[in-house]
Amino acid sequence: MDKQRSSFTGKLGFIMAAAGSAVGLGNIWRFPYLAAQYGGGIFLLVYLVLAVTFGFALMTAEIAIGRKTGLSAIGAFKYLSKKWAFVGYLAAIVPIIILPYYSVIGGWVAKFFVAFVSGHGAEAADGTYFGDFITSVWEPIGWFSLFVGLTAVIVWFGVEKGIEKVSKIMMPVLVLLSVFIAIYALCMDGAIDGLLYYVVPDFDHFSVKTVLAAMGQLFYSMSLAMGIMITYGSYMKKEESIESSVRHIEIFDTGIAFLAGLMIIPSIFAVGDPDQLLSKGPGLMFIVLPQLFDKMAGGHIVGAAFFVMVLFAALTSSISLMETVVSVFMDKFKWSRKTTCAIVFAGCILLGLPSSLGNGVWSHITVMGFAFLDFFDFISNSVLMPVVALLTCVFVGYVLKPKSIADEVMASGHGFKSRTLFDIVIKYFAPVCIILILVTSVLDVLGIFKI
Ligand code: TRP
Repeated sequence: MDKQRSSFTGKLGFIMAAAGSAVGLGNIWRFPYLAAQYGGGIFLLVYLVLAVTFGFALMTAEIAIGRKTGLSAIGAFKYLSKKWAFVGYLAAIVPIIILPYYSVIGGWVAKFFVAFVSGHGAEAADGTYFGDFITSVWEPIGWFSLFVGLTAVIVWFGVEKGIEKVSKIMMPVLVLLSVFIAIYALCMDGAIDGLLYYVVPDFDHFSVKTVLAAMGQLFYSMSLAMGIMITYGSYMKKEESIESSVRHIEIFDTGIAFLAGLMIIPSIFAVGDPDQLLSKGPGLMFIVLPQLFDKMAGGHIVGAAFFVMVLFAALTSSISLMETVVSVFMDKFKWSRKTTCAIVFAGCILLGLPSSLGNGVWSHITVMGFAFLDFFDFISNSVLMPVVALLTCVFVGYVLKPKSIADEVMASGHGFKSRTLFDIVIKYFAPVCIILILVTSVLDVLGIFKI
């Protein structure tokens, strides 16, 4: 993100840029495994309800704050209120936690891409392939370092525009390919049970954890509660409609997540043992999809195409995550871009190592009952982001007042159709829900109160 506030050209430019940041591993890798783990249809339902309420209100607020102040998170909060400046800093910590473990997963994707390209796709369909890979020591570290290195080189040379151009072509193709894979999966024996599990809510599976997981996923997937959308908003032109842009980004982001689930969850029932796979967690995509590709004629080509596109989606996100971290450090410590890149690269490797080793040799070490990767994921998605979201809601609802956001939304001359919804969510619904969920989940993790 450049220092000078260049504006996006037109609404489509803004939507594509923001959607480009939003769509990533969160949609393709994270959403399906959470949906599988937290009861399928009920998770989907809760997610959708939260997306059109929380997601809508928070994204609107963040983009409006950015456009109003023309600054990124830290500057924007400072400018609006000295007392609330800490929220900007808190938001800036989130990408620092996410980037290292995001890159670990990015490394897995790179590994699978190379496996498929080099004709080893069939081996990946073997049930133990993924497990053997992540429990080994050097291989995952190598792929993870490669992924971080690639990201750092791109940020160092400032050539992300090139990558973005490629990914603008890759993304629509990824969507088409996913539709094809999903249809293929749905035509297999047993897949219908998976489809039903995925789309029909079963209220027996509902718990506070479902809501917490869905909420964390919403923030993660839409790049909310970490200042990113504030920065994007600062690049947005006054005459573009914030409200309709937010709707478009939401539909795009949720659509891709839904599609990824449609590809993976029915496949679980078609190629594997649901009892064992539904709760598989972060490895789900890497276990299920190779088995599906193995059954497909020309599956190794489909597999290679799929993983290269996911790799690009992951890279555009990791670039923008690293860019955010780099710009925060550059502003704060006045380091040069190159020095900052080198430091962030080293820090990222250091912080990512436990997440990588935590699956294998360090699997006996847990933090609050979590493996390292899950711990970083939990701290960012289930603790920090809800806290930042809560503070943002309280700040907007009671200090800045919803009216000033509404004024900014209406500055484009498009009105604000969901104004009432926005006010209610920001002032009451979101803060109350977040507090309830945060408190119960922290008590749960500490073992004080079991949910
Ligand atoms: N939303 C991205 C995804 O779904 C991940 C992400 C989180 C991100 N924070 C970000 C991407 C900041 C870019 C910038 O994968």
